[in-house]
Amino acid sequence: MRINQLIQISPSIMCADLCNMEDELRKLESIGVDLLHCDLMDGHFVPNMPLGLVLLEQLRSKTELPFDIHLMVDDNDFFVQKVVEIGVQQIAVHVESTTHLDRTLSLIQENDIRAGVALNPATPLTTIEYILDRIDFVMIMSVNPGFAGQKMVPSALKKVANCRDFLDQHGVDIPIEVDGNVSFSNIPDMVAAGADILVAGTSSIFNKNGNYSENMDKIEKAIQRGLERRR
Ligand code: DX5
Ligand code: ZN
Repeated sequence: MRINQLIQISPSIMCADLCNMEDELRKLESIGVDLLHCDLMDGHFVPNMPLGLVLLEQLRSKTELPFDIHLMVDDNDFFVQKVVEIGVQQIAVHVESTTHLDRTLSLIQENDIRAGVALNPATPLTTIEYILDRIDFVMIMSVNPGFAGQKMVPSALKKVANCRDFLDQHGVDIPIEVDGNVSFSNIPDMVAAGADILVAGTSSIFNKNGNYSENMDKIEKAIQRGLERRR
């Protein structure tokens, strides 16, 4: 059972051993992760394609864990429809990927799925000002999307804190999810700044210097340090 229920952990399964996914699932379940972060990329919005719809469909029948979908695609409505059919619990759409963001977020919420908006590092918070009533969470990218194993961009921590202030100023009490280089050393700063959901990838849960249980212990300790520093 997780120690810090206040902060959720969503392992980024593109960082898992994709050739042994059922075994990976069992290990992740056994250490008490809260969600499964599934990156769907189309090779256009970002130049990569680690996971596919068939894999998600097969994983769906293997686990009860909530699916945390991160769309990095041009045709959001197509992928929203496909993951709705698979059965997922939340979907993040990139502000930068569509001209009809309000419509796509409504499509997600109409299917009783939590709708999120993802912001690339350079994208200002003002872009979400007129859709605050359409979202259930905000995803702050702490790396430029498309690849695992990158270093956090310097502005990310300030942006998480600014996002929390922005939401508070608008009277919106929704979680902030942080995605990218969520490492043992970055987690305290991310949590102190206001992160509520951590996408754990190669620098934490899938860190090669430990097993999943050891890495989870380090994550929990790092979260605790961050919570102690919260304003
Ligand atoms: C990148 C993905 C992230 C990535 C995280 O575009 O959205 O989920 O897999 O990997 P790390 O934690 O290694 O940055
Ligand atoms: Zn992601």
